[in-house]
Amino acid sequence: MNKTLIIGRELCRELLTVEDCIPAMKNTLRALAEGQVKMLDRSVIPHQNGNLLALMTASLLPQETAGSKVIIFPGPEAAKNGTSQGIIPLFDTVTGSLKAIVDATQITVVRTAAVTAAATDALAAKDAHTAAVLGTGRQGIAHAEAMTKVRGITKLLLWNRTQERAEAAAAALAEKLPGIDVEVCNTAEEAARNADIICTTTSARSDEPILKGEWLHPGTHVNAIGCVSPMGREVDTETVRKSRIFFDQAEAAKKSGDIAIPVGLSEIASDSENFIGDIGGVLAASLAGRTSAEDITMFKSIGISAVDVAAALVIYEKAAAQGLGVEVEI
Ligand SMILES: NC(=O)c1ccc[n+]([C@@H]2O[C@H](COP(=O)([O-])OP(=O)(O)OC[C@H]3O[C@@H](n4cnc5c(N)ncnc54)[C@H](O)[C@@H]3O)[C@@H](O)[C@H]2O)c1
Repeated sequence: MNKTLIIGRELCRELLTVEDCIPAMKNTLRALAEGQVKMLDRSVIPHQNGNLLALMTASLLPQETAGSKVIIFPGPEAAKNGTSQGIIPLFDTVTGSLKAIVDATQITVVRTAAVTAAATDALAAKDAHTAAVLGTGRQGIAHAEAMTKVRGITKLLLWNRTQERAEAAAAALAEKLPGIDVEVCNTAEEAARNADIICTTTSARSDEPILKGEWLHPGTHVNAIGCVSPMGREVDTETVRKSRIFFDQAEAAKKSGDIAIPVGLSEIASDSENFIGDIGGVLAASLAGRTSAEDITMFKSIGISAVDVAAALVIYEKAAAQGLGVEVEI
């Protein structure tokens, strides 16, 4: 019987850099557009205490690897004990062997920012040099770094609802990214108006957008990442109306409040020509991305299983090559 490599959270943190993850995310999004990835719909079992058990399953056909993220998204009580907890088992689809069991927590942070970076590389103006991050939690910090990997970013503008958190993020980013000017803004408007790329990465759950379309100048690229539920939104209707919009997977991402709320209010048509399609189509050159320097583009993600499995595979291959992790017979 084959052995299974167990790869824990700390090792994942060491092995999965955003730089390594971006090419893997581009390949996976492109493969999805080309029909080379199979995914099941996300299944969720809600519990009374607010904990959600989620299962996200995908098979990467070219890599002959399949897996499933099994994760608990914690409700308010469980969140006091820390972040979400989960694993990704990786199977070889030819031999049927269980190659690895990989911790999922760090993957969720890094793959989300790396997917956004892949989309930003495909859509943002080539000369974009200022990036704003609205919401400086885990995703915000990862996104700020990821933006610097795909464009010549010289300035990062950070805004958070509680300013201390933005200041802590600024200090951490300034240390990690020497040579980049990192500034904390007093308002979301100040950050957004002065940016070429804007990432919304808050955990806001209400129907009170934090980004307004009236603040966007021609040529801006927006990454709307934080809102994954149908009930809340980060970007207002004007942003949706002004943008050419791409998704990690359109069918799933259109259910998030960023799109579902303005569609539900009949403020934009469900078949609006603003909704272009999956970002993988742009990476596969079957869809046009930015068509002019004036276009405002937007990437809306909700998180898909294929990129979890692809990121787990990056970690597994690095760990196996370096003889890291713990081998067990299951
Ligand atoms: N699109 C995806 O693929 C994807 C993947 C993972 C996480 N997410 C989402 O990203 C969001 C952020 O995740 P995280 O791990 O960084 O969370 P986090 O708790 O580390 O950070 C959230 C930040 O949002 C801010 N915030 C909360 N409520 C706000 C409000 N009403 N207005 C403005 N700011 C507010 C907080 O101050 C905090 O800094 C979550 O909603 C999560 O569901 C999306």
